[in-house]
Parts: sequence; structure tokens; C-alpha cells
Amino acid sequence: MAHPYLEIRDLRKSFSRAPSATRPLRVLDGLSLRVERGEVVALVGPSGCGKTTLLNVLAGLIPPDSGSIALDGRRVASCRGHVAYMQQKDLLLPWRTALANAALGLEVQGLSRREARARARTLLKRFGLEGFEGHYPHQLSGGMRQRVALVRTLLLEKPLWLLDEPFGALDALTRAQLHDHLLQAWAAQRPAVLLVTHDVEEALKLADRVVVLTPRPARVRLELEVKRPHPRDVTSPELVALKREVLEALGLSVREEEEVTAP
Ligand SMILES: Nc1ncnc2c1ncn2[C@@H]1O[C@H](COP(=O)(O)OP(=O)(O)OP(=O)(O)O)[C@@H](O)[C@H]1O
Ligand SMILES: [Mg+2]
Repeated sequence: MAHPYLEIRDLRKSFSRAPSATRPLRVLDGLSLRVERGEVVALVGPSGCGKTTLLNVLAGLIPPDSGSIALDGRRVASCRGHVAYMQQKDLLLPWRTALANAALGLEVQGLSRREARARARTLLKRFGLEGFEGHYPHQLSGGMRQRVALVRTLLLEKPLWLLDEPFGALDALTRAQLHDHLLQAWAAQRPAVLLVTHDVEEALKLADRVVVLTPRPARVRLELEVKRPHPRDVTSPELVALKREVLEALGLSVREEEEVTAP
């Protein structure tokens, strides 16, 4: 039988609270999700609902309490080894330049330093960072650091990308450019992608499917297919209608959402 690339079943995770608290904090509450090979799935949900926790579990950084993860039909403890993870907090090493940070993953994988840096240089350029290769993280803006972290992630060429708000610190124009670059990199590699975002339009622009999570503890509230060719116009009536549906599932009206995302 055909199986999805990634299949998550009934995942549960609680965190213990302060010793005085009687019950642990339930974060994932029987979460099930499938991602096909080459599919981009956007995860949206209220702040604190458990999105980052889900990605941490998938990446193998924390163990789930129960539930199963299967990759390519085979049960695994986590997706470690198959995954390129861009974490919500950018984890650039302060003592390495942008170039050395971007190339780090490839070097760890055993590529020669020279080759790793050549590849990193090419992708940094595409992401608008030419001329900043020699800068250290503290000399870069928040959005630039985020781009370096994204480049480091995409360079790994893994079959599964976990991207936790990769465009959070960017202005609208840079965001739109990076959406295009991300789609290009995706088209070249065709990975399965789980993309966490707060921005419903971003989700509708990039994803094949949008998954809306409930407030903590997270379960899937709504799944929406967005099978439209790229580039997509988020002001088209079809996408506006889908946006309304997602916002409703989040318990927001269009006006409230504009207030939430306004700078
Ligand atoms: N290591 C941990 N120990 C204890 N509690 C944790 C831990 N990691 C996360 N939590 C709690 O789990 C809940 C979910 O956190 P998580 O970071 O997954 O949310 P999120 O959906 O990614 O939120 P945001 O959209 O704000 O990034 C929060 O209440 C958080 O305090
Ligand atoms: Mg998070």
C-alpha cells in the first residue's frame, strides 16, 4: 500500500511544571499528520500551542511521551538524519562569519571546507547576502541572520525540511523575495516541508496544504488543500476565501488578523 513520506500518529507530549504544580502541561494531545514526498505543509496555530515542540520531537531533540513517527513507511524514533531543521531562534555561532555559519552543516557532514564554502557562497548570494560573507552574526541584522540560518538549512539537501517561522524577522518586501527563493530551492530538491508560520497569507502562498492547530494542547483543527500553481496571488477570490476559512478556524476575523500582524 502507498504510504506517505512522513506519518505522525497520535503524538503526545507533556512537560513537567514547577514542582508545586499538580499536573504536567499537556502540549501535544494526540496529534496526527501526514506529509507526502515533495509536499509543503504549513502549520499555523496560536502562540504557545505546541508547534515548535512538534518540530523538536520530529528532529529528535526531545522524545515524545507516546505516539509514532514513520518515515517512508518505516517506524522511527525521530526523523534525525533525514531532516534539515531551521529553529525558531537562529542558532548562528557568534565566532563564525556568515559564510562559515552557512557552510557549517555541510562541513559537519564531511564535505571539504572549500567545497562547503563554495556552495554556501552561491546560495548566500542568491539570498541577497553578497558582500556580507565575512560579517559576524552581531554585525548582521535580524533578518540577515535569519537568511544565513535558512541558507545553512537548505544547503543540507535533506528530504525533510522543518522550518520554524523562517521569515519572522523580515519586512514585507524581503519576505516576498525570499518566498520566491525558497520555492526555487524547493523546486530543485523537492523535499517534504513542514513550515510553521503565523502569517496566513504566507501559508496560502507557499503551501500545498495548510494545517490549523488548536490552542494548547495541539491537535489538528482543520486541513485545507491549496493546490494552485505558483506564483500565487493571495488577493485572488479563491485564496481570499481560503484565508477566511483558516482565520475562522483560528478564531479570528480578517480585521482582527490585520491588527495582530500589523507592525
Ligand atoms: N522544554 C520545555 N519545558 C517546559 N515547557 C515547555 C518546553 N518547551 C515548550 N514548553 C511549553 O510548551 C508550550 C508550547 O510551546 P511551543 O514552543 O511548542 O509553542 P509554539 O506553538 O511554537 O509557540 P510560538 O508560536 O509562540 O512559537 C508552551 O506553553 C511552552 O511554555
Ligand atoms: Mg514556536
